[in-house]
Amino acid sequence: MSDIATPIAAAPFIVGLGGAIRSGSSTEKALRHVLAAAERGGARTLLISGEGLRLPLYAPEDPDRCAAARTMIAELAKADGIVLGSPGYHGTLSGVIKNALDYAEDLRDDGRPYFSGRAVGCLATGGGWQGAVHTLGALRNIVHALRGWPTPMGAAINTSEGVFDADGVCLTPGVAATLDQIAVEVLGFARAWT
Ligand SMILES: Cc1cc2nc3c(=O)[nH]c(=O)nc-3n(C[C@H](O)[C@H](O)[C@H](O)COP(=O)(O)O)c2cc1C
Repeated sequence: MSDIATPIAAAPFIVGLGGAIRSGSSTEKALRHVLAAAERGGARTLLISGEGLRLPLYAPEDPDRCAAARTMIAELAKADGIVLGSPGYHGTLSGVIKNALDYAEDLRDDGRPYFSGRAVGCLATGGGWQGAVHTLGALRNIVHALRGWPTPMGAAINTSEGVFDADGVCLTPGVAATLDQIAVEVLGFARAWT
């Protein structure tokens, strides 16, 4: 694995999107871990999670957007790299995260449409392996649809194995290394592409 501790010259802007509406979810902790690793590598970061995900159901025919939706779309448009995280609900990503990603349709006519030109790291949690792995694959399919570049490394995290403590510290070295590597790949692509 690459050395995340080596600061990079530029300061790419990395946006994390995901978790759950309740704060402190394990998915949010995993996203925070990736963003912290990205910051150690020299990035500026922003996490959109918790109340930032409380969005009306996306309706493409309705041009009205709430403040949270406008913020999310504006930050994604500025992002040099993106990290997505979802819990596995009934075998795939949660409706909350899918709804947030539906808003990426508002980036269709952007200078960089959707997620194009950006590496997108994906992570998924689950109460078991099957849900986590399938959710990771579903996220990557969405990234392809949005013209992003899924990173080679993704994380499927089985939270029944007690991966994070109450403060969000990752207790499992293998998971921590995987999340660090996602940060390395998102950052590396951002620097190579821009
Ligand atoms: C509505 C609901 C559906 C779920 N469905 C699945 C599932 O299909 N497969 C699975 O592995 N875990 C499932 N889980 C468990 C969550 O994926 C798991 O607890 C995950 O770690 C939650 O992460 P969070 O702390 O970010 O909310 C489900 C949980 C909920 C609340």
